[in-house]
Amino acid sequence: ARITLRQLLDHAAENGYGVPAFNISNMEQGLAIMAAAKATNSPVIIQASRGARSYAGDRVLARLIDGLTETYPNIPVCMHLDHGNNLATCATAIQNGFTSVMMDGSLKEDGKTPADYAYNRNITKAVVDMAHACGVSVEGELGVLGSLETGMGDQEDGHGATEKLSHDQLLTDPAEAEKFVAETGVDALAIAMGTSHGAYKFTRKPDGDILAMHVIEEIHRRLPNTHLVMHGSSSVPEDLQKIINAYGGDIKPTWGVPVEEIQRGIKSGVRKINIDTDNRLAATAAIRKSFAEDPAEFDPRKYLKAAMGMMTEVCKQRFEAFGTAGNA
Ligand code: G3H
Ligand code: 13P
Ligand code: ZN
Repeated sequence: ARITLRQLLDHAAENGYGVPAFNISNMEQGLAIMAAAKATNSPVIIQASRGARSYAGDRVLARLIDGLTETYPNIPVCMHLDHGNNLATCATAIQNGFTSVMMDGSLKEDGKTPADYAYNRNITKAVVDMAHACGVSVEGELGVLGSLETGMGDQEDGHGATEKLSHDQLLTDPAEAEKFVAETGVDALAIAMGTSHGAYKFTRKPDGDILAMHVIEEIHRRLPNTHLVMHGSSSVPEDLQKIINAYGGDIKPTWGVPVEEIQRGIKSGVRKINIDTDNRLAATAAIRKSFAEDPAEFDPRKYLKAAMGMMTEVCKQRFEAFGTAGNA
């Protein structure tokens, strides 16, 4: 059954667990995520970015979600728009059956230029008014993550929009978060606490300082009833990096967000944990391995089945680690 983000995260808060939000742009990801949700009896958030929507097409994506929810009628599914950039993107997502939208007003409409507070508040409030009238939940974002443009993070000194900002400027200000939630009425708030999108987040295993866990704790103290969202939360597992590189890939040494740090966040109000990269790595590892081990095979179902298996494994581990398992 389809539920809103508010319904799902209220239950998660009452019961002290977190919910992974897995990105989707194709059928294999969808089937893999749902198989893991079913195996662990977990509710799930499936989210599509603007890139995913243009890759699959809104109609195909909408029917795909219908197919997934009808195939697993007992699994609560929140269908969420990831990083909406204006009112229209959020409205068309709602028309396509999304039960939750993110209005990311921390960035301008181009999705890379950091925006000021007034811009963010005004556009987020407009989306909240529209979405709530439709019974749809809204996630906002305050603070700046690593560059969305390059997918590169803290270790990247390249061309991202965030390169000119210091670590402290990137973090969400707790007092401003309190004001933002009061002024916009968002159901969930994405906060910047040191993570970035993509595989290249950290040059070493991050500790609590790099991850600014104190920022999460302070925001939760001020906003105990606001569901916090961690973006860029892939763990970038070393074993998947090794498989990819063993079969001809080229992933440079890198670290993601350790699962135990996410578990600490869940103790401080983090309820939605965004994961895309880990499933991308899992699919790539499985496909590279399949190609190497059976070069004569050319039926895509063979290697895509292997990809689904490895993605399901990643999803199951996250459902278990975040306490989502058993809550469907
Ligand atoms: O926010 C980033 C997600 O991983 C989606 O990435 O824009 O390449 O679909 P995408
Ligand atoms: P990762 O790149 O760490 O998987 O983050 C995904 C994300 O935050 C989507 O919004
Ligand atoms: Zn994100």
